[in-house]
Amino acid sequence: MKRVKLVCFSGTGGTKRFTSLLETCLIKNSCDVTVLYLETKSIEIAKREGTFYDNSYDLITILFPVHAFDAPEPVYKWIKALPNCKSVSVALISVSAGGEIWINQACRFGLIKVLSQKGYDVFYERMIIMPSNMLIATKETFSMRLLQLLPIKAENTAKEILELKQRRIKTKFKSRLLTRLAKIEKVTSKLFGKELRIKKSCTQCGLCVKSCPMGNIKMNHGTPHFGWHCVECLRCVYICPTHSIYPIISRYMVIKEGYDLERIGKQLENTVLESDEEITSGGYSFFKEYIKNDWV
Ligand SMILES: Cc1cc2nc3c(=O)[nH]c(=O)nc-3n(C[C@H](O)[C@H](O)[C@H](O)COP(=O)(O)O)c2cc1C
Repeated sequence: MKRVKLVCFSGTGGTKRFTSLLETCLIKNSCDVTVLYLETKSIEIAKREGTFYDNSYDLITILFPVHAFDAPEPVYKWIKALPNCKSVSVALISVSAGGEIWINQACRFGLIKVLSQKGYDVFYERMIIMPSNMLIATKETFSMRLLQLLPIKAENTAKEILELKQRRIKTKFKSRLLTRLAKIEKVTSKLFGKELRIKKSCTQCGLCVKSCPMGNIKMNHGTPHFGWHCVECLRCVYICPTHSIYPIISRYMVIKEGYDLERIGKQLENTVLESDEEITSGGYSFFKEYIKNDWV
């Protein structure tokens, strides 16, 4: 029986969805699977149980959303804390709205560098496309099609990583340069937390406090207060039942209509989708191959 560790950071649930599907597929393939969600509470538990840093697995798979052409800070923190090893196999799954376009192509590069220095063997890289949770919403039919495709993408990923199939992506110099320049986002995301404000419509339900993956929100005299550990995942903004959390400067980051994968999933159950040809028409033609080919 193969021992597989899945390590996931997810802001608004897209990466988490794929991680759960992958977990199910791996269990079906008789693997012993441990999942670590990189969130304050799960990290505390894992540290207590001694499963946070351990690398006693046949295979480690790290899953994360692309943030500013790179992996978010909690993922870097985790791999930097890993002990050195003699070639444990690692698969990297990035989840993004833009897919494997050149601007995103170096999103795994920094992680690979650190992992390789520690003796890990990154043999597999894959980009999963999910609806956009920032700037501009992905069109509804395309979002539904992406969710519909997720189980087959997870099944194929499980198959390939268990076969230890080599799947490495060559990055262009310009992609690496852009990712390097965008490292500034690791600082600006902390400021994002500080520019979040609360509207009068806040019911003090405390959902934002409970949900923040970084434990960065504290209730102070009935009002949520944001600390310096924000990673700009946008979970609190979208999860608030009364839409009471908003940034005062980076308003453009937030999709006005909100972001709710549950709703898109439910809508999919009652919708007969148009053809892939229509779904990927116009500005969506870049995604044709991803939609058409289950192995991409
Ligand atoms: C701060 C931030 C930066 C992002 N940067 C990128 C990016 O550089 N490229 C991209 O394709 N998508 C980007 N996205 C979109 C997310 O990668 C995408 O919506 C992903 O599905 C979110 O996953 P999650 O639901 O697990 O958080 C960004 C999202 C946020 C919140």
